[in-house]
Amino acid sequence: MSNAECALLTTQGFIMTIITIDGPSGGGKSTVSRILAQQLGYTYLDTGAMYRAVGWQAQADNVDLTNEEEVKTMLATIQLEMTPGDDDAKVIVNGQDVSSAIRSAEMGMVASRVSALPQVRQKLTELQRQIGAKGRIVAEGRDMGTVVFSNAPHKFFLDASAHERAKRRTLQLQEKGEKADEREILAQIEQRDHADASRDIAPLKAASDAITIDSSQISAENVVKFIVDQLAKK
Ligand code: DC
Repeated sequence: MSNAECALLTTQGFIMTIITIDGPSGGGKSTVSRILAQQLGYTYLDTGAMYRAVGWQAQADNVDLTNEEEVKTMLATIQLEMTPGDDDAKVIVNGQDVSSAIRSAEMGMVASRVSALPQVRQKLTELQRQIGAKGRIVAEGRDMGTVVFSNAPHKFFLDASAHERAKRRTLQLQEKGEKADEREILAQIEQRDHADASRDIAPLKAASDAITIDSSQISAENVVKFIVDQLAKK
């Protein structure tokens, strides 16, 4: 058991099993969730990767997303395996390793599109709850605190201005040697925020009992520190 988890155990008298971290894209959720999960010895559940994997399969199968039957057929047979790693999770869909392929900006937009479909949300919500039932997870996404784990005792909403998120994403891509246009990235971020927040089912929003953190001016390490302090306080 990690020191941080011990601290939580002693203050609370029990192990908190589910911590939710929601927020818009590019707000640092993944980095924060990964570090937090490592510190607590918890499993990091990246639900965005699940939507990306379904989007990837839909594209590979040429599924018409406006056709309910086609979506249903794809979902009936889809096999999704997530293996948490030190870095991004290993994601296998229908036997194919898509871990890297799903990380592009394009797949982010595709994921956003499939995530608005009720059948897809139902399927992935079930899967996420099955994983969550094992406990000791840091669940990251858009609707972890509002829908999937609405009873979770600890909920956080990680926000940052769209400009700050675009700036960070541009730097990240440039560090990887990739070409990145900040204005284009900002436009994509705003488009995805709008789509995720305005959809009918499980829209992106903070749960009423979530603690909102504006990470615009705070490093990921300090956000984690703040979260661990909040957990220990409760
Ligand atoms: O976190 P991400 O960028 O990998 O997520 C990709 C898309 O998946 C995001 O734009 C909306 C969708 N998503 C969702 O609707 N619900 C979640 N819990 C996680 C992601």
